[in-house]
Amino acid sequence: MTAPLLDIHLTDDDLAAALRADARTGLTATPKSLPPKWFYDARGSELFERITELPEYYPTRTERALLERVVGEIAAAARPEVLVELGSGSAAKTRLLLDALTAEGSLKTYVPQDVSTSALRGAATEIAREYPQLGVHGVVSDFTDTLHNLPRGGRRMIAFLGGTIGNLVPAERAEFLAGIHEVLEPGELLLLGAGLVIDPAVLVPAYDDAQGVTAEFNRNVLHVLNHRLGADFDPDRFEHIALWDAENEWIEMRLRATAPMTATIADLDLTVDFAEGEQMRTEISAKFRPDGLRAELAEAGFTTAHTWTDQDGRFALVLAERR
Ligand code: AVJ
Repeated sequence: MTAPLLDIHLTDDDLAAALRADARTGLTATPKSLPPKWFYDARGSELFERITELPEYYPTRTERALLERVVGEIAAAARPEVLVELGSGSAAKTRLLLDALTAEGSLKTYVPQDVSTSALRGAATEIAREYPQLGVHGVVSDFTDTLHNLPRGGRRMIAFLGGTIGNLVPAERAEFLAGIHEVLEPGELLLLGAGLVIDPAVLVPAYDDAQGVTAEFNRNVLHVLNHRLGADFDPDRFEHIALWDAENEWIEMRLRATAPMTATIADLDLTVDFAEGEQMRTEISAKFRPDGLRAELAEAGFTTAHTWTDQDGRFALVLAERR
């Protein structure tokens, strides 16, 4: 095997600076908010893994079963030479794709992208060992602003799975898709995984499980601020809220202060007050309609080649070609 290449476009200092900027902006805004990307320290990633195994949280297993069912069709339709995987967290999905694409015979290179150097080095090394015929070229970057750092050459398919596109508000999605359009050549491909609009009676419990794992995941962003920015939040005095915003068609997670509180964020020289009952947005998880998804892709310069959905219409995989 050849050792994997690793390009590092994002250092720990960059990440620390981004966290400081996001925390200052979000905590001094009205209403307060924090971006969901900061859930995922080691503890947060572990909690997310536990979420994916909850009975209520259908997206991960639904996408996986769908991918399992149609990955051969995806491979036959796409036949890429390079697979770029944005936010290459989930090893299971990666292997499904790599198995199908190597069986199809077109694939030469796998390019995993992630924000975590250690996670990416580990995953890239493991994949390089398991698929000795593939070149592995990892990219450490933030997928929303370093798309231009992806290696070029060879017909590429960018896979963005898991429904993470739902973390972006419409304007951010448009910008993100335009960015992908910009780095791709005509004829290259985007494989997008997206959660669909379904009955809120199924949707809401997926983000508010009986065991309280999602609540702990939500509060983890406060643990992250405590550990990384010297803040003194008392996470247990914040209550988890998950609600369906029917107008925007997204799940919104919030943290609600159960008492009046003052938090000091030492590294920011910042003190913030919370009124009793004050709610802070920590995540949106937008759900889509297949038509809407195709329209957003068309607007960004993509032609939708295929849309696959599971039997219950809960999740979609879309293969789109850059015009
Ligand atoms: C990883 C962004 C796809 O939105 O469903 C899970 C994150 N938040 N439970 C999602 C999440 C609460 C998840 N994504």
